[in-house]
Amino acid sequence: MKYVRMPIEIESPEQMGYDSIQYNLTESSFRDARLSDLDIDVKSLLLCYGDHLGLRELREWLAHEEKVRPDDVCLTVGAASALFIVSTSLLKKGDRLLVLRPNYATNIETPRAIGAEIDFMDLKFEDGFRVDVDRLISMIRPETKLVSITTPHNPTGVVIPPADVARIAKATGDRGITLLVDETYREMNFNGVPPSACLLGKHVVSVSSLSKTYGLPGIRMGWLINQDPKLMELFLAAKEQIFITGSIVDETIALRYLENRAKHVKPILAKIREHFEITKKWIEAEPRLEWVEPSGGVVCFPRIKDPKKVSVDKFYEILGGKMKAYVGPGHWFEQDRRYMRIGYGWPTTEELRGGLAAVSQALREAEI
Ligand SMILES: Cc1ncc(COP(=O)(O)O)c(C=O)c1O
Repeated sequence: MKYVRMPIEIESPEQMGYDSIQYNLTESSFRDARLSDLDIDVKSLLLCYGDHLGLRELREWLAHEEKVRPDDVCLTVGAASALFIVSTSLLKKGDRLLVLRPNYATNIETPRAIGAEIDFMDLKFEDGFRVDVDRLISMIRPETKLVSITTPHNPTGVVIPPADVARIAKATGDRGITLLVDETYREMNFNGVPPSACLLGKHVVSVSSLSKTYGLPGIRMGWLINQDPKLMELFLAAKEQIFITGSIVDETIALRYLENRAKHVKPILAKIREHFEITKKWIEAEPRLEWVEPSGGVVCFPRIKDPKKVSVDKFYEILGGKMKAYVGPGHWFEQDRRYMRIGYGWPTTEELRGGLAAVSQALREAEI
């Protein structure tokens, strides 16, 4: 493995220091919850090694939700480690995979660290960041080992329609290729929550977590689901070598939280919708930006309309310096810096309004 730190992590707000940021529009999750607000008491918990696949009751809860068996669920340290487990279990140096770009950085960086050969399916602003399924299928080679898709997509918020995911699953299944579906944002789908892709075949691995929709990234609670016992044995072997098992504290908090999921999720989805509308209204009135309207998640990926009229470097300088506002610049996603990821789910409504106004002011002041 050849590890290289990713810009999105080096420059993340928690690494830069929250103190220097007044308007944080970089986050891709709902606002972080505070443990004391959740009414979850773990004081009497026995701090033992837990079940290696993960807390049985939590796997049962997830299995019931997703209509699979508890042993089809492996709990992981956030979705990030699930993605790491899948890549390192299935790929070795020189193996080929097909992956969307831009993407959540780990979906690209871990295969790269392994030394895998990566075929990128580049999503274009001009095509509405749409995943063209015919093109994707035509890019699969006889030696492709893994196809990796993300829906709802980070950083664009674009959703791959379920019928298209099913077509990709069929095409990969027919060729004996594993399909990885990163569905970490699935519950934040504006057009209803589709069934998990893991139901589309034994070759499909779906990955998700509690970090984004529920604002619980601090308990590092994710999972992968797959219905092939042989693949699951492989993933468990990887998990045991990395962690042995997950944190019983995190797993217990997650279980207690999900037992009250209905209570938590309603206000969260309502707030996301409200913030989406604020962002949409703002961006449609902002003459220096253009966007592809997202259909899920809590982020969008607008771009400066005419980089000849706005100095991109000056924009970021003013935004971070004078305005104390922070967005995810395009280079976090291997894209031109005229693109920026704006997360509208994490800030308070006041911070969101302030942050969007700061972006407008920085754009105005950076005009050439
Ligand atoms: C698409 C996607 N997958 C996975 C992750 C990892 O999240 P976590 O490890 O907190 O679950 C992220 C985080 O930004 C993401 O955007």
